[in-house]
Amino acid sequence: MSETPATILFVGDLVGGLGRRTFLGLLPALRERHRPDFVIVNAENVAGGLGITPKIADGLFAAGVDAITLGNHAYHRKEIYPYLDEHERIVRPANYLRSQPGHGWCVVESDGTRLGVVNLSGNLYLRAGRPAFLEIDTILAELEGRVDHLLVDMHAEATSEKVGMGWFLDGRVTAVVGTHTHVPTADARVLPGGTAYITDVGMTGPRGGVIGVRKEQAIESLRTHMSVRFDTSEDDPWLMGVLIACAAQPRRAASIEQILVPWSAG
Ligand SMILES: [Fe+2]
Ligand SMILES: [Fe+2]
Repeated sequence: MSETPATILFVGDLVGGLGRRTFLGLLPALRERHRPDFVIVNAENVAGGLGITPKIADGLFAAGVDAITLGNHAYHRKEIYPYLDEHERIVRPANYLRSQPGHGWCVVESDGTRLGVVNLSGNLYLRAGRPAFLEIDTILAELEGRVDHLLVDMHAEATSEKVGMGWFLDGRVTAVVGTHTHVPTADARVLPGGTAYITDVGMTGPRGGVIGVRKEQAIESLRTHMSVRFDTSEDDPWLMGVLIACAAQPRRAASIEQILVPWSAG
């Protein structure tokens, strides 16, 4: 491991082209300011609000993203299926069926520090083939001795499942970050065992919509219960993420700080 403990910038779900542009637009300033050793993004909504394409994934990697995590929209675009099998640093939830394309964890390296990145799906209100709480034990056993730090993206609907996963992994991983609800929560902290935790990081994209969707369309759907076309909102783009400072001790964090930044060029 390198002399200075690593810093991880984890960015919440990029929503649509606006989310991608917001992230790419703000990244140079964030790099300058926080000097992250690792940049990880959840990009399950980056292709027009649903899924991801090989071209977009390539663009994110070209911008210096170290690893991409996904979630329940991982398979929205068919052209990504072979890419998920072929590319190590893009992960879909590890507790999906083995028959589904892709894999659930990867190890990335920077300046001698090995960071494991695990994607998990909650089991409440989301379709995942295996229980997240059992799967993670298997993964931790597999990664034993192979990583210095470990970040788990727990992609889940229910806050209870995410809080539970934080406590379950406290003292065993560097960070547990929640994604999927697109709304950042106010509970970022390092748990007593040394694991950085937040229930939801939030999203990167239009804060002026309803979790990414144009607000007029979302309200119309909620008001009428009729089928309404959903487009990605273009209103009020923000980047939402967390900055995690790893501790000198393996698999422990020193701090976690929320990053909530408007993008004025949007
Ligand atoms: Fe999402
Ligand atoms: Fe999701």
